[in-house]
Amino acid sequence: MSGSALHAQRDGWWQDAVIYQVYPRSFADGDGDGVGDFAGLLDRLPYIASLGVDGIWMTPFQPSPQVDQGYDVSDYCAVDPLFGTMDQFDQLLESAHALGLRIFLDVVPNHCSSEHPLFQAAVAAGPGSPERAMFHFAAGSDDGAPPNNWQSVFGGTAWSRVNPGSETDREWYLHLFSPEQPDWNWRNPAVGNYFEGVLRFWFGKGVDGLRIDVAHALFKADGLPDAPTADPVVDGLRSNPKVSDQEEVHEVYRRWRRVADSYSPGRVLVGEVNLAPDRAARYTRPDEMHQAFAFAFVKLGWDAAAWAAVGTELEAARKEHGAPPTWALENHDISRSVTRFGGGDRGFLRARAGLVAILGLPGGAYIYQGQELSLPDVDVPVHARVDPMWARGGVSRDGARVPLPWTTAPENAYGFSPPGAAEPWLPQPAFWGSRSVEAHRGDPHSTLHLVTGALRLRTELLAEGIFAPDDACSWHVREDGLLLCERGDQILLAVAMGDGPCPLPDGNVLLSSSPLTPEEFLPPDTAVWIRRRPPLSGLDFYDAE
Ligand code: NOJ
Repeated sequence: MSGSALHAQRDGWWQDAVIYQVYPRSFADGDGDGVGDFAGLLDRLPYIASLGVDGIWMTPFQPSPQVDQGYDVSDYCAVDPLFGTMDQFDQLLESAHALGLRIFLDVVPNHCSSEHPLFQAAVAAGPGSPERAMFHFAAGSDDGAPPNNWQSVFGGTAWSRVNPGSETDREWYLHLFSPEQPDWNWRNPAVGNYFEGVLRFWFGKGVDGLRIDVAHALFKADGLPDAPTADPVVDGLRSNPKVSDQEEVHEVYRRWRRVADSYSPGRVLVGEVNLAPDRAARYTRPDEMHQAFAFAFVKLGWDAAAWAAVGTELEAARKEHGAPPTWALENHDISRSVTRFGGGDRGFLRARAGLVAILGLPGGAYIYQGQELSLPDVDVPVHARVDPMWARGGVSRDGARVPLPWTTAPENAYGFSPPGAAEPWLPQPAFWGSRSVEAHRGDPHSTLHLVTGALRLRTELLAEGIFAPDDACSWHVREDGLLLCERGDQILLAVAMGDGPCPLPDGNVLLSSSPLTPEEFLPPDTAVWIRRRPPLSGLDFYDAE
């Protein structure tokens, strides 16, 4: 499909879109340095298109010292040579569009890199300067304590002395993440203007949308007051109401929405809004972002009551604020679903079932690279861990970021790199080949085939109007552990989350994550899409609280 044909498609395409998350440094290495890059991605775009997804979200590739794997940006409008060049990016965009794939980029507006020229200028300019007013600089107490009790998400205090030991410059600067990631001061209008320029730069190139990093935290409580308790847990955002979800932040997204809507076709905003459903839904009001990940759902374990409860909360939020939830089970920050759902054979089956379930729900969905291969977390050896969260907080996200296996044979990092390449940036385990794209292609029952089949069917059901993006959802749990979601009046999604087989509800099974033998039972750890025969009755539900 040509780029213009793609752009001629209907408005609101994003409402039911499925986006594939590419973590570029682990997708495919084209230049042989052991780190994934644009050349590798360009080469394998047809693979992504063959899945049947609508687009790609690329995590940051802008110039960065890579302290937080690119989430420490030192230039928002350029390409880090580690990944390639701007010409290659333009080529990538054009090729993706020609394949019918949209491209979303990550924008990181909460913080930058300590090597960003504006932070460097702020450090050099000294206390009281307009340069420092772009960030949160503040004096500590006389006894050497930081300006307040806030904790960093990565562990330890959220403040660092800018000029340790100086008697004349006694200021500290705020960093909700690592010390190399100073927070912008969004109360300064110059910051908002700067980011509007960033948005316009990428939208002007034809980028279709932006994923907004830590979208709810840009504004901190005015005056930077102490958190109610100095909670030492490694989760500085959620334990501290003073650093996120301030009312002023919504004005940022109203402005960004106006910018996004000023392009033709309109550009799309999707937020990392890690808040409870009722609060997160406020970010997708009609004049703000288009989508916000359903974070309450992203991290759930294998627990029917919890899924039904969160599903019910999300449905209530949808009814109040309009936008359907945006579903995901994985991303580069959390444990992969095979592992999170128990590992081994059951974790494998559950992860497949979970994916089938979310692809059957109304609203957009995101698939993290490797999820279509049922990759589990890798136990990366301690000496090889590079995640800053590991060093500061003792938690490593590296296990979900290991370079993808493309071939069954181990040569060239299981096909991740070209011949003669350096070792991959994170070591791959010995079983990696059995999970490779090549292995999945050769097995008709593989997760790769399951996902492509599910996406094909989803497209058909949407085209026929059997799936509608704004279908209502009603969640229930049966006593045998069967999770049920009535989607609109035609579809029932069922997931067997207990330990035994569950009698299948009435209707025609359209898709199943595992074979149904015998046919009238749903084996444990299996999900199905059922076309209902009217009406749904005789089921023994208890409602999720
Ligand atoms: C969320 C990103 O997904 C994560 O990888 C990063 O460490 C933090 N935001 C800070 O940017």
